[in-house]
This record gives sequence, C-alpha cells and structure tokens, in this order.
Amino acid sequence: MTLLEIFPSLRDGGMVPRLDPTIWPRDTHYDGEGRITVGNVALADIADQYGTPTYVLDEGEVRGRCQDYRKRFPDAEIIYAGKALLTRAVAEWVTEEGLSLDVCSAGELAVALSSWADPARIMLHGNGKPFGELETAINCGVGRIVVDSLTEITLLSALASRPQRVLLRVTPDIDVHGHPAVRTGVTDQKFGFPIGGDAVREAADRILRQPNLQLVGLHCHIGSQIGETFPYGEAVRRMIGEMSRLRDELGVELTELDLGGGHAVAYRSGDPAMDLAELSDIVGDSLDAACIRYGFPQPKIALEPGRAIVARAGVTLYRVLSIKHVEGGHTYVTVDGGMSDNPRVALYGARYDAVVANRHPTGEHMTVTIAGRHCEAGDILAHDVRLPVDLRPGEVLAMPCTGAYHHSLASSYNGIGRPPIVAVRDGRSRELVRRETIDDLLCRDIGH
Ligand code: LLP
Repeated sequence: MTLLEIFPSLRDGGMVPRLDPTIWPRDTHYDGEGRITVGNVALADIADQYGTPTYVLDEGEVRGRCQDYRKRFPDAEIIYAGKALLTRAVAEWVTEEGLSLDVCSAGELAVALSSWADPARIMLHGNGKPFGELETAINCGVGRIVVDSLTEITLLSALASRPQRVLLRVTPDIDVHGHPAVRTGVTDQKFGFPIGGDAVREAADRILRQPNLQLVGLHCHIGSQIGETFPYGEAVRRMIGEMSRLRDELGVELTELDLGGGHAVAYRSGDPAMDLAELSDIVGDSLDAACIRYGFPQPKIALEPGRAIVARAGVTLYRVLSIKHVEGGHTYVTVDGGMSDNPRVALYGARYDAVVANRHPTGEHMTVTIAGRHCEAGDILAHDVRLPVDLRPGEVLAMPCTGAYHHSLASSYNGIGRPPIVAVRDGRSRELVRRETIDDLLCRDIGH
C-alpha cells in the first residue's frame, strides 16, 4: 500500500516544484530520463558512484561567481573568504579567476599554500591568532594580516623580520539585525576596535611605531546574509571618516579599505539575495562622496565574499531511508545525513528546499519535513518541503544551495563520517575530498 492510500489527506494538490535558477547552479537541467543534472552529470549517477550523503560542487558555478564579482567590481580586490569552503581545488579555481584568499587559521593557510596560492595574495584573519600561527604566517610570507588586538601587535613586531603589511579591524557600529551569531558590525563584541574611539588610535599608533610593521588600511566585516546594500554605503562613509581621523591625529594616510563579506544568497525560492550591480553602485557612490567630504584620496577597496561565491555551487545528495506520517502531525522523510553534514538549521534556523533527483515527478505532491538520522529531535534538515506522494525509500533527494558553511562546519557526530565533495564539470565528476570512513574515526582514537 502507498502512503497516499493509507493517508488520503496527504493529497494536498499544489504545484510541482521547479528548479529555480536563483537557488540552483546555473548549469542545472533535467536529462532525457527526467533526472536532474548539474554540470552535465546526473546527480543520481553521483549518488550511485560515490554513495550518499555527498556534497556535489559545480566548478563552473564557482568560477562564474568569481567572474561576476570581477566584472561588477573591476577596480576592487576580491578576496575569497575560505571559511565558507576551502579545499585545494577550490583555492585553485578562485585564484585562477583572479581572487585573493582570506584564511583564518594555520589549517586553512596550509590548504591554500598546498594549492600553490601566492602567499602574497593571502590575508590572515582572526580575533585570536595563536603565536604559532602568526609565526607560520609570517614565515611563509602572507601578504597581509588583519590585526585584532593590542597583544597581536606586540607579537607581530617580535616575529616579523621584514616589513609585514597589516590592516586594523574596526567595528563600524552598524547593526544589520542578522542572526546574533553572525552580527559582527556592532561595537560591543569580540571582533575589532570600536570606531571613533581611543582604542583604534592607540592600536594604529602602536603599529606605526613598529619599524617592521606597515599599516596599510582598515578592515570591517558587518555581518553575514546581508541582502540590502545601504549598510555597505554606511560602512564606507564611516570608515573613510575614520581613516581621515587617523590622518589628522597620527599623520598617516592609509591606502586600503577592506569592507569584509556578508553578501546574502537565496536558500529558498523568493529569499532576498545581494544584488551585486546595486552593491557596486552604492560602494562607488559612497566612496566618491565620502572622499570628497573628508578630502581623502580614494583607497583601494577590497571585498571578502565567502558564501556568495560557493553557496549556490553546492548540492547535497541524500537517500531517503524512511517516510513516516504522524497522524495529526507532520510527514517525516528521514534521510541518511543530517546535522553532521548540515548544522546550519540547528545553529541559525536556516531554511532549505529539496527535490527528488532520480526522476522528474509530475504527479501529486505532499508537504514534508526532512529529518536527519542523528539522535536528536532537533536534527531537521528542512521544513515544509514539497515532495511527491509516491516517494520511496532509496530515492535520491537533492538539496540546493549547500556549498557554503556545510563541509566547513561538518562534524562526525554520532560516529557518522563526513561526506565527500564531488566536483562536476563538463559532464565529468571527480572527488575533491573523500568520504570520512570508520577507519578514519578509529585511527584518531589511540588510547586503550
Ligand atoms: N570576512 C570575514 C572577516 C568573516 O568573518 C567572514 C565570515 C567573511 C568575510 C565571509 O562572510 P560571508 O560572505 O561568507 O557571509 N557559519 C555561518 C557564517 C559565519 C560567517 C563568519 N565570517 C553560516 O553558516 O551562516
């Protein structure tokens, strides 16, 4: 008996979901058999070949997003924030597309360097950089370090044997009202020095007094998933004001302004996303206006998008394990992954969509909750998803817009190894990161 025969009320009509180009990679289609393809590879074939869950990454989409940024911001430096997703191949693609790289740990630095990224184009971030990491960064010649505390200035000046370029991180007191976990522009928090205060001047002054440190600019990062452009215009105005104050008070004319990342992507159809053309206009106009107002020469602008480069390039594949309808409640579709490969739902209340990838269902659909397999009731991957009423265990579900902060936030919770990353391009697939196996889990456990 089918689920529909047991529970006729599941038949709730409605539209068959379509593949919305704002949340899927641009090269997504249905093939002749009705299966979804990305980069000309059928997702169902990937599930068969590499198993599930699997993160699929469309190389063309990553490169395309880098090109979009280069085109929209021809005079700016685009620095990819590797925390969103960093593998050797991703580092290679973005650097080939002319982007610089932002890393925030020795681990990310090692991945970037092993992809032969030019150390001079790497920027090191972090509010807490251990001594050893600063030493490694300086020894390998990273181009710039973003200073986030007075202690760091002391450490850097002790470590640098040749002039090290640094930026100073400033909080511009802009509240974008995002999720509290990613609200980084407000004053009272762990990142940066509050704008307009004595601390910025004191930090800048200390750097300027170190002969082996070269203060080149200011940095701010106002938050994440920001869909509106005006906070960036405001950030430009305030930061140019701060650069002008430092010129007046310390006699230094800084030449770089890094505006951080945070550009929103659509996770589900209809979600707001950052409009790059509008962002480019507002940054350019605010820069012109602020530089005229303060009589300050235009600094070089840098942007640090992470999510906006890789989110839409990623599609996660799961297999359906079971379908359960709770009378008077929800219909739960349990899949073979969960909060270990996507903790973003539990962490930030993120919302996703999913579709059947192994066939094009045209019949009736039902509204379901997609549940993970972890031992927590909160392990839900998506709410209110439309799936066919004749869905069967073993079918492949594809969840779009899962390229950013999925692999990088993944864990092996409940002893479930992290999924592989499989890249697709021109009809071919290749593994970039292999699946974490039970042997991998056992080999770190060395005590008896
Ligand atoms: N620059 C700095 C200094 C950052 O801290 C970040 C992100 C970025 C750039 C890139 O931001 P994006 O363009 O990707 O929004 N785990 C959270 C996001 C944390 C963002 C941390 N910093 C999530 O999954 O939504």
